[in-house]
Amino acid sequence: MRSIRPYASATTQSPSLSITPVSGSLGAIINDVDISQTLSPTTIAAIRATFLDHGVIFFRQPKPLSPSAFLRFATCFGQPQRYPMVRGLDEHPEIIKVLKLRHETTNFGGIWHADTTYLPSPPLGTLLMAEEIPIRGGGDTLFANQYLAYETLSTGLQQTLSNLRGVSTSSKADASKTREDRIKDSAPSSAPEVFSATHPAVRTHPETGRKSLYVNVAHTSHFDGWTEAESAPLLKFLHEWQTKPEFTCRFKWEVGSLAFWDNRCVLHNPINDYQGEKREMMRITLAGDVPV
Ligand code: SIN
Repeated sequence: MRSIRPYASATTQSPSLSITPVSGSLGAIINDVDISQTLSPTTIAAIRATFLDHGVIFFRQPKPLSPSAFLRFATCFGQPQRYPMVRGLDEHPEIIKVLKLRHETTNFGGIWHADTTYLPSPPLGTLLMAEEIPIRGGGDTLFANQYLAYETLSTGLQQTLSNLRGVSTSSKADASKTREDRIKDSAPSSAPEVFSATHPAVRTHPETGRKSLYVNVAHTSHFDGWTEAESAPLLKFLHEWQTKPEFTCRFKWEVGSLAFWDNRCVLHNPINDYQGEKREMMRITLAGDVPV
């Protein structure tokens, strides 16, 4: 993702890929790659470079991939891992359904967050593919560039944050309630435990070397060594800052669309504006590093 510089043109050509940026701050649609086919190492490398440069990449396909093709594509970029809160598909336990049924009112993951920062090694990235989308529209997903969120802070606050570690927990109420519908029908056989992990408030990306803000309102409860009450004012400021419109893009799903975001430097938030309609996605997360 480029710092603060807007993209030069609506559609750009990398050496091997045609790319359409979706906003000035992050996100790009990769055109003309058939991800249902086995990809060459050169194409995989070009997709990865685009992913690192734009933070979240999108593919439009005529129909959803089968679960095994989805898994094959994901495995080009990392090691799929199981999600601890919801049972995966019987035949492919690394794939979960992100589902909202017509009578349900809450979006799964419907809050700004990075995925599972309460684990010691949160995922490198997440792939999400649309199987069914609301007929009347809605259910878009927002993404926010956390390189920009960090780089646009004052040097004074950057310095303060460089000494802080955020404690993430899986039990914050606003995030837990977004999982309740799926816990009812798809909880893992053993009851999900409460996970907690402490990570730097600013992390350095292991591939790009860039620093990004690494707290999120869904999971970060406080700073290590601070009370929740002491942490709350600074966290409130950071949560508002990190999702400013100029750091975001918005993706409109079509059946078969696939998004792949870099969970190390991007937040996401699905919009809950399709009450009475169904939305069904398949999701895979890829194993990541311990943040430093
Ligand atoms: C998630 O947090 O993985 C769900 C994102 C979405 O449904 O758009």
